[in-house]
Amino acid sequence: MTQNDAFISIRNVNKFFGKFQAIADVSIDIQHGEFFSLLGSSGCGKTTLLRMLAGFESPTSGEIYIDGQPMSDVPPHHRPVNMVFQSYAIFPHLNVRDNIAYGLRKQKLARAKRYEMVDEMLELIKLPDYGDRKANELSGGQRQRIALARSLILRPKVLLLDEPLGALDKQLREQMQLELRALQKTVGITFVFVTHDQEEALTLSDRIAVMAQGRDLQVDTPTRLYENPVNRDVASFIGTMNFFDGTVSAINDGIAKVDAVGLGEVRAGNVPSGLRPGQSVCLAVRPEKLTVSENAPEAGSNARGLLENAAYLGERSHYYVRVDGVSQPVAVSAQNRQRADGKAEDKRPVWLSWDENAFVVLEDG
Ligand SMILES: Nc1ncnc2c1ncn2[C@@H]1O[C@H](COP(=O)(O)OP(=O)(O)O)[C@@H](O)[C@H]1O
Ligand SMILES: [Mg+2]
Repeated sequence: MTQNDAFISIRNVNKFFGKFQAIADVSIDIQHGEFFSLLGSSGCGKTTLLRMLAGFESPTSGEIYIDGQPMSDVPPHHRPVNMVFQSYAIFPHLNVRDNIAYGLRKQKLARAKRYEMVDEMLELIKLPDYGDRKANELSGGQRQRIALARSLILRPKVLLLDEPLGALDKQLREQMQLELRALQKTVGITFVFVTHDQEEALTLSDRIAVMAQGRDLQVDTPTRLYENPVNRDVASFIGTMNFFDGTVSAINDGIAKVDAVGLGEVRAGNVPSGLRPGQSVCLAVRPEKLTVSENAPEAGSNARGLLENAAYLGERSHYYVRVDGVSQPVAVSAQNRQRADGKAEDKRPVWLSWDENAFVVLEDG
């Protein structure tokens, strides 16, 4: 049995292909009914991990539990999971109804019952009148919905989705994201969703495992991954982040005072346990948590810099500020709340300012 009440428990799993280690000591717990995503760049091991959940691959060491049962001796077709692939594996010569009912053929169900279940699925995926259509008369988005319905009709406890929206164009993908999320909440099935698209993961997921080179770097909610990344890799994989070196001068009530290169004294949260005064650390701050101004700011902490580059993007502008002692220009993003009357201009001395809770400490100093 598992040591906890997680619905899916991945315990110290390693996977080698020959001498190549594709998965390195991954431990992740997934709760019942969660929309859980595996996020990372191509080749980081997402599909390998998903295939081990499905039973198409076995861990070299470690154990996977689903619903309290160890899966090592359970073949794919006896696992309470179903997998949806990126290339919608539907049969072009069958109509939509028979495609969706395909997995039911081994269950001894009356034809009327089967068709009733298919009609329910067609309602659920918002294609109620499509039962008689040939699969090859459907758009990409419709085909992907049929593939989903074909998996869902089997009522698996877990649905595994490997970049299921990857083949769709941007607009359709965004629409399908919202539908997929709503669908998952309706059916209440645990989803394990693979994507390399950080925005997609943030939009859809209850929690996300950020992966790199076969490891899980951080498992957390979208908000915590964005606001409190544990290290540089997570911080720069999700959104844009500015980094500063510094030395801790004091720690009080979970807030570190840091003497930061180029900025002076900065207060930063997210302090790792064990951090001590005198240690050097890496600080991080998001572009939208900084403000650029020409005049000295009245409140908040601040520093001086030289505006090197400015880009007007309509609803917001991006600024790049050179600060003495900092190797990369500091990125700042500002909403254009006032109507702009000209281009954002660069090449002048400016002030950078920020609120008390803008900075966080990263673990990998
Ligand atoms: N059957 C296999 N044999 C050898 N190497 C594999 C096999 N499957 C995956 N890999 C390797 O393992 C790594 C992770 O692959 P994969 O899990 O498909 O990554 P992702 O889905 O994150 O893009 C890659 O370097 C890939 O080449
Ligand atoms: Mg993959």
